[in-house]
Amino acid sequence: MEREYSKGRRASLAFFFAAALVAALALTAAGLPARAFTVTPVAYLPFVGGGAEVAPPATPTPTVTPEPSPVAGPYDQLHLAWTGDTSTTLTVAWRTWESATTSSVMHRRAGDAAWQTTTGGVRPSGTEGSLHEVTLAGLQPATAYEYRVQTDAGGWSPVLTARTAAQGPFDFDAVFIADTGLVGRLDGLATGAQQVIDEVRKLDPLLILGGGDYAYFDKDKRFGTLDETIDAWFNQMMPLASRAPLMPAYGNHEADPALDETGPDPNDPVWPWNSRFPRPRAAWGPMTTPST
Ligand SMILES: [Fe+2]
Repeated sequence: MEREYSKGRRASLAFFFAAALVAALALTAAGLPARAFTVTPVAYLPFVGGGAEVAPPATPTPTVTPEPSPVAGPYDQLHLAWTGDTSTTLTVAWRTWESATTSSVMHRRAGDAAWQTTTGGVRPSGTEGSLHEVTLAGLQPATAYEYRVQTDAGGWSPVLTARTAAQGPFDFDAVFIADTGLVGRLDGLATGAQQVIDEVRKLDPLLILGGGDYAYFDKDKRFGTLDETIDAWFNQMMPLASRAPLMPAYGNHEADPALDETGPDPNDPVWPWNSRFPRPRAAWGPMTTPST
């Protein structure tokens, strides 16, 4: 039984790697800056690396909440992560501006009537306002959830959806995105990122892996400072990252100056990026050498 299963898994992996190769060739032929492959999230998590970090907030017991007002105040940069068990947790990050806005997320299993509210804490926002982080725990594996984040003006975001992973080995779709840049970039690749976002939205993967070279801040100064550019990138990715965890690696355009073999580049420090991505605590180790 075990042997049959292993053979099946090898066949499945071979299929997905073959599919990834075909997809990569197709994307390359189309001039799109993306590659795709299939991985197991549990195997991936230990390699998410390093950097200045803030302690994630404790996860309190959710409380039952009445149906919220549908009126949403301002919020942006909403993105999901896996910082714990991929089958029973989801971590939500988003930015608001008012100091009184709490780090609260309400969620329910898709189809259920009652919402539960979980509170968390804040990460460094990099620019204005608060970057909230809340980890939903005690979720059911392989299950669709609806959630809403607290917004300014005492409101709640529209209902968003996300999924937990199954437990144990299972087949799923993951997408690897790198070299996106920001839509409208001035180096001749103005529309590539939007095409990739639209395609990934259709694929609706369980997990999105970021390969780095996200915003090319050394070349693209349209948004101002590096942190303002990171704001723009998270907003650009929100249609994808609000639906599936986005787990980062970094490229040479987010290189750690201390590890950059070509010498420190103050335009491309990795730390402002790293502080925005919730990541597993166990993965806080030294950075690996950036890719080129
Ligand atoms: Fe690149």
